[in-house]
Amino acid sequence: MQVSAPSPGILLPSKNLQPTYLLGWGPWTENSWRKPLGNDEMRIAVVGSGYVGLVAGACFAELGHNVFVVDNDQRKVAALQRGECPIHEKFLPELLQRHRGNRLHFTSDLAAAVRRSRIIFIAVGTPPREDGDVDLSYVESVAEDIAGAIDTYKVVVEKSTVPVYTNAWVRRIMLLNGAPPELFDVASNPEFLREGSAVTDFLYPDRIVIGADTTRCADVVAEAYRPLTDGSYYERTDVIPGPVAPASMDGPFKAHLLETSTKSAELIKHASNAFLAMKISFVNAVASMCEAVGADIEQVCEGIGSDSRIGRRFLRPGVGYGGSCFPKDLLAFRAVARESGLHFGLLDEIARVNEEQRLRFLRKVKKALWTLKGKKLGVLGLAFKNGTDDIRESPAIAIVKSLLKEGCSVTAYDPAAMNRAREEFPSGSVKFAADAYDAITGADACLILTEWEDFSALDLLRIRKLLRYPIVIDGRNLFKPALMLAAGLNYYSVGRADVLSSRPSVAPFQNQAIEQDEAA
Ligand code: UDX
Repeated sequence: MQVSAPSPGILLPSKNLQPTYLLGWGPWTENSWRKPLGNDEMRIAVVGSGYVGLVAGACFAELGHNVFVVDNDQRKVAALQRGECPIHEKFLPELLQRHRGNRLHFTSDLAAAVRRSRIIFIAVGTPPREDGDVDLSYVESVAEDIAGAIDTYKVVVEKSTVPVYTNAWVRRIMLLNGAPPELFDVASNPEFLREGSAVTDFLYPDRIVIGADTTRCADVVAEAYRPLTDGSYYERTDVIPGPVAPASMDGPFKAHLLETSTKSAELIKHASNAFLAMKISFVNAVASMCEAVGADIEQVCEGIGSDSRIGRRFLRPGVGYGGSCFPKDLLAFRAVARESGLHFGLLDEIARVNEEQRLRFLRKVKKALWTLKGKKLGVLGLAFKNGTDDIRESPAIAIVKSLLKEGCSVTAYDPAAMNRAREEFPSGSVKFAADAYDAITGADACLILTEWEDFSALDLLRIRKLLRYPIVIDGRNLFKPALMLAAGLNYYSVGRADVLSSRPSVAPFQNQAIEQDEAA
């Protein structure tokens, strides 16, 4: 890392940021922002109130900082100011309630937020373009706006997932837009937040990566995370509960800080997500091998995951990965490799296996039901994974669309994602049920497409009674095959032998007879 000498007239950040940093305030409407800062307080602007920006903003407020979350969508800002939580994310409503209007503010006035802040995190969307490259126009436009508002030394931090060299581009754009070079640095601080557990991922991170090319800049960003890295946050009595500490951990938790160059930090993010996607595609390919040779993927995963070099996590076979990150990041990483003159063919294979996994599941549905036209299916799960209402790149949505094309009718239930899914199927092509049992009532088969824990607690005998045919096709391996057999269900899962029950199928009108049968 390069150590740059302080420029004359620029205040150097110290461990305790001084109020002097906050000179140059412009007009502002919210009086609470005007209170003088104590020595330990830091002001942070987070631009973008999506999954990453909102979670980061709320968590920085939880760490004791004054945070201004900026979004140009005024309706969204107004809703956040009213206390509405726009996403389904554990602990986020609690944090918003705890800090809104106190340490956490929402605004559309980017320039004012920048002037009042020491650090500006850019957390706007970086959607994929048609060619797989990332659309960085939102990042560019925010960089232009920040440049115009800079008056004292600021650190601009890219938090959105971006390709390598974005940091250099942000700096260049800011200079072109008149930002004085001595008044800002640009750092990279990738997020590793999983939807559904983003708050605890932020507060109990495996690592915090700060990519900066000067120590001055790295120190300012590190200061924002200090309560996590020195462990003081975990000593508080009102702390958000974290994951259970591993037995091997000695002493209280302290987050691991990793300081790197900006380019390394940018690469760490893409490489991490590509590696995790590779693990999933690998296990899915092994699951297909298991089906072909008659082995059991659960036993195989237990065997390979016990090797501490491999680990058990992210070895769950299923219908393939989805979400707003893995598919997009993989394409973007591939584009970066291509632009650098490298052929990273492994990335293509990861995406191909993932696509194939959905098709394999559709073939399983056909195998279980023979013909699909006119079949009535009860679908459990629409979100791309459990714990979230996000359906972006959800394998479940893709599978439902394919089944509709085949002429099936679908009734679906998801504990969190139904409102978003309704927008995906506006013409009423999918019916939405009140609960899981409602979704499968009278269906020719039950399909499980998202790994919601609630589904694994469903009453199997009731499922059998409600289904027209006793068929469950489980894309997430939520059940033990022996239990399905005992419940009289035909059960198709991933990487395990099919369970074909010898019990007869049960139509709803036969329920009474079955009940007597079970009672006997
Ligand atoms: C991911 C990364 O984990 C996170 O670090 C990054 O910052 C953002 O992208 P997220 O997209 O929220 O987070 O979901 P994740 O929990 O990683 O799951 C991604 C997909 O993989 C889901 O569709 C999930 O169902 C699937 N998955 C995950 C599997 O199929 N098997 C597994 O073993 C794990």
